[in-house]
Amino acid sequence: MVFRHTPVMVNEVLSHLNCKPGDQVADCTLGGAGHARAILKRIQPGGVLVGIDQDSDAIRHASAVLAMEMETAPGMDMATKQSRIRLFHDNFQNLPHILSQIGIASLDGVLADLGLSQYQIEASGRGFSFRQNEPLDMRMNADAETTAGDIVNASPEKRLAWIFKEYGEERWAGRIAARIVAARADKSIRTAKELADIVEAAVPRRDAAKRKIHPATKVFMALRIAVNRELEILDDFIIDAVNCLKPGGRICIVSFHSLEDRIVKTRFREMEKACVCPPDFPVCVCRRQPEIRILTRKVVRPAEDEIHVNPMARSARLRAAEKLLTVST
Ligand SMILES: C[S@@+](CC[C@H](N)C(=O)[O-])C[C@H]1O[C@@H](n2cnc3c(N)ncnc32)[C@H](O)[C@@H]1O
Repeated sequence: MVFRHTPVMVNEVLSHLNCKPGDQVADCTLGGAGHARAILKRIQPGGVLVGIDQDSDAIRHASAVLAMEMETAPGMDMATKQSRIRLFHDNFQNLPHILSQIGIASLDGVLADLGLSQYQIEASGRGFSFRQNEPLDMRMNADAETTAGDIVNASPEKRLAWIFKEYGEERWAGRIAARIVAARADKSIRTAKELADIVEAAVPRRDAAKRKIHPATKVFMALRIAVNRELEILDDFIIDAVNCLKPGGRICIVSFHSLEDRIVKTRFREMEKACVCPPDFPVCVCRRQPEIRILTRKVVRPAEDEIHVNPMARSARLRAAEKLLTVST
């Protein structure tokens, strides 16, 4: 298993999470465990890292990397060291359930670094990259039912066009969907390369030449989002994650897609609102209190130096918030 993932904006994530020794922090997207390692170092002695990933390869990798990190931690026996790292092969939408399973009532920090790891794109063999002739799978969780191949080969043309337009913001969504339906009438589309060739042929040459990205980039991203239901679960996850924080606890979300970032921004703003009574009400009847304070008025982007060293960081955006003390009225 070749895991090569350079964590994005580590310093920015650590400073917004404000990790301290003794903290209990959940990294909900372990991936190559770069952020998790940095967090684990900061919260010792005494802290607990809860790690989640829906990809079992990521869990295997993280478990080795984090155990190695703990080996050097002074003054703890093996059982104590093990109790400081709790890893779960699960979807982060189950965070509240996971915490109740291990008896953690509330957290000091939650991190979600959304999207794919470099390992998944380059080495998982699951067809995430249009550059590789791999089966059209795209499941982050190999136990999930639906693959990208199922969607491409069985969805009605309208549904395909919707996925490409909504999730990929692909201008030629309808045309690409029509070409896919025509191609699959002959034989099923089995590999990432076959699909990339169909998409490339469907995008008009003059438009493809103007794009800075491969003509299949947006379609592949859209399919991946649909297969893993990435946008559907994000909003509820944010609400649950904030509920799982102690007052003063922090949530940090790194996204790579404008639609994801919009969901984070909108939900944070909603949770920061106080009274939502109509403006013509003479007094407040809703008694609503802000749940969080947004720490990133402007979205945080990686510095040029980081993008230079790690071009995959280019589209990363970080938003963070702190849970407020709720005052009962
Ligand atoms: C960008 S990578 C994280 C990289 C990581 N922060 C690091 O430092 O290496 C995203 C990871 O999140 C996982 N993931 C994405 N959505 C998830 C979800 N809903 N539940 C659990 N894991 C998820 C993916 O499988 C992938 O391993």
